[in-house]
Amino acid sequence: MDHKVKHTGGCHCGAVRFEVWAPEILDAIICNCSICVKKQNTHFIVPLKDFTLLKGEEKIATYTFNTHHAKHTFCSVCGVQSFYTPRSNPDGRGVAPHCLDSGTVNSVRTTTFDGVNWEKCMESDPSIRERSKP
Ligand SMILES: *[C@@H]1O[C@H](CO)[C@@H](O)[C@H](O)[C@H]1NC(C)=O
Repeated sequence: MDHKVKHTGGCHCGAVRFEVWAPEILDAIICNCSICVKKQNTHFIVPLKDFTLLKGEEKIATYTFNTHHAKHTFCSVCGVQSFYTPRSNPDGRGVAPHCLDSGTVNSVRTTTFDGVNWEKCMESDPSIRERSKP
């Protein structure tokens, strides 16, 4: 099931659009760090090479905090975060499955990530970093 298909997606107003190569069955992460909880930031991680921003670069605003490694990018027009750069995977993108256009996703599997204890959780699950490797 690792066969990748091309999904397209974007923000609500359409200013930000992207395409992303990922399986039809997406493995998404539900993180409970302070910001992911507030944003309900369910996301699947892909290598940078599988993600292409089609439009909206100039409309994207970026919020950072704490270590400033994660880049919480969102559309400055409608406010929707359709993708971002996770702290765990600076060489990849975290994409919101709920911001993909319908028709290409079979289903979304989720696992939880203990973002409250980020360091400990990353240590205990090295596979997280692998998700953005080409
Ligand atoms: C955060 O998520 C982890 C993994 O699901 C869970 O074990 C932990 O209880 C959660 N912590 C809080 C404060 O919600």
